Amino acid sequence: MDLPNQTVLATVAVILFVTFYVYPQWRKSLSHIPTVGEMTWFGLPTQKSLLACRSVMLEGYHRHPNGFFKMPLFPFRWAVIANGRRLTEELSNAPDEKFSFTFPTGKLVQTDYTVGPEILTDRFHVPIVRTNLSRNIAAIIEELRDEMLQAFSVSPLNDQTKRDKEGFVSVPALATVQQLIARITNRVFVGKPICQDEEFCRLNTIYVFDVVKAANKINMFPDFLHPIIGPLFSPKKRYLDAMLRIVGPTMRKRRSILETNGPDALPNDYLSWNMAEAPEGYEKTDEGLAMRLLNINLGAINTSSVTFTHALLYLAAHPEYVGPMRAEIENVLDHEGWSKEGMQKMVRVDSFLRESARLNAISLTSINRYTLEDYTFADGTFIPKGTVVASSMYSTHLDEKIYPEPHTFNPWRFVNEAGKSRTGQAYTGTSAEFLSFGAGKHVCPGRFFAANELKAMLAHIVMSYDVKLDANANGVRPPNEYIGTSVIPNTAAHVLFRRHVP
Ligand SMILES: *[C@@H]1O[C@H](CO)[C@@H](O)[C@H](O)[C@H]1NC(C)=O
Ligand SMILES: *[C@@H]1O[C@H](CO)[C@@H](O)[C@H](O)[C@H]1NC(C)=O
Repeated sequence: MDLPNQTVLATVAVILFVTFYVYPQWRKSLSHIPTVGEMTWFGLPTQKSLLACRSVMLEGYHRHPNGFFKMPLFPFRWAVIANGRRLTEELSNAPDEKFSFTFPTGKLVQTDYTVGPEILTDRFHVPIVRTNLSRNIAAIIEELRDEMLQAFSVSPLNDQTKRDKEGFVSVPALATVQQLIARITNRVFVGKPICQDEEFCRLNTIYVFDVVKAANKINMFPDFLHPIIGPLFSPKKRYLDAMLRIVGPTMRKRRSILETNGPDALPNDYLSWNMAEAPEGYEKTDEGLAMRLLNINLGAINTSSVTFTHALLYLAAHPEYVGPMRAEIENVLDHEGWSKEGMQKMVRVDSFLRESARLNAISLTSINRYTLEDYTFADGTFIPKGTVVASSMYSTHLDEKIYPEPHTFNPWRFVNEAGKSRTGQAYTGTSAEFLSFGAGKHVCPGRFFAANELKAMLAHIVMSYDVKLDANANGVRPPNEYIGTSVIPNTAAHVLFRRHVP
């Protein structure tokens, strides 16, 4: 080859390199956003990086109040964190065409391989949860109450053969709560008798852990290998087969009722609404129904169990808060019984759960989004397409300008002088300053159901049991476990229950 040709080739190569590599990299550059924390080798997680997330989050919040910083966050490489009310409000209300709500979950969970892409591409379950479930709360509370009594009576916490000298039974907190919540929640998702099927409840409880384990493995590989290795790690088929075995006959029976007598003839639960409202095709098949059921359980059981265990540990560590709650609940039950109105009037129970959720926001971040196009925030900050942006829930909930004495567990923080919930600060009240259920556009549609369920459970425990920590804890609430962005109640903690004799 002679010289001019080489020059031409080299020039073309440089132009191609700049156009398709350097320029896109430069466009995607986040170098103008300050960094907090250290990037690890290829962005892969290390023990140190997973444990550091919490301090990085706090440092970023204090160094860049009402601004942005970026931190390394597996599996995204970088996450840009938005601090303060204004940015959080802008992020939580930004249009879906610009910010994807589903992408961060999709990547984290590797939905395409682990649980099926449909859960993110066709979100018809969201209006069902938002309207059909929430509108039925009055009827649902009776069912919850009924299931709760049965679930507690057969729970290990009530195993009277295990009583100590003072009459207390010791149980692992999180595992016990998971068992109770799986059963009680499924009374409303699939009804009796399936909600009482131990194998069904067990599978729906552990599914999330197998999904996350598989997703973590997949995320260790570069994206282009995912279609090849993804299916190898997927737990989906195993769970789907088990669901079809357990729930299949019920689905087929209900389908024939639906076809002959219409939706009003079906039992009032999530499965029925799903059968009536699902789009034609895959979602109406046994497989589609079973996957949707597994997936709403995946969204409900772990989050509710973690949230409730956080609160239970406060209750066990602070017997002094039991008296005021018992007085309130007794008074409410005298007037309203276990009803929707009654639940609304349990203001201290409500505040207790909100305060627990404030201090233990189940994740360090909320409002997790992903830019689908370049975006410039109102404060002028440019975020390139393809960036994960989230709000720092953990630091917001610990901001002393918003919550005086932020590290103190003050269970009546949200009760006003008149004994009512402070305006907008009932447990389900969301804002840019209380992010446990998210805020804005994609706020958790199941929060009214979840709040009622958890309030009913807490009230039931307060009225029916004396609760304390085991001796190892020395009266101190066992410390949380912080891994990555997860805030997990101490997984080794035990709580002791004794039947309360009024
Ligand atoms: C669910 O709620 C929607 C909206 O209120 C209603 O149109 C529909 O009939 C309900 N579906 C069932 C099965 O109850
Ligand atoms: C369970 O839920 C908590 C709270 O949302 C979360 O931090 C944790 O990562 C979840 N666990 C799994 C295995 O997904």
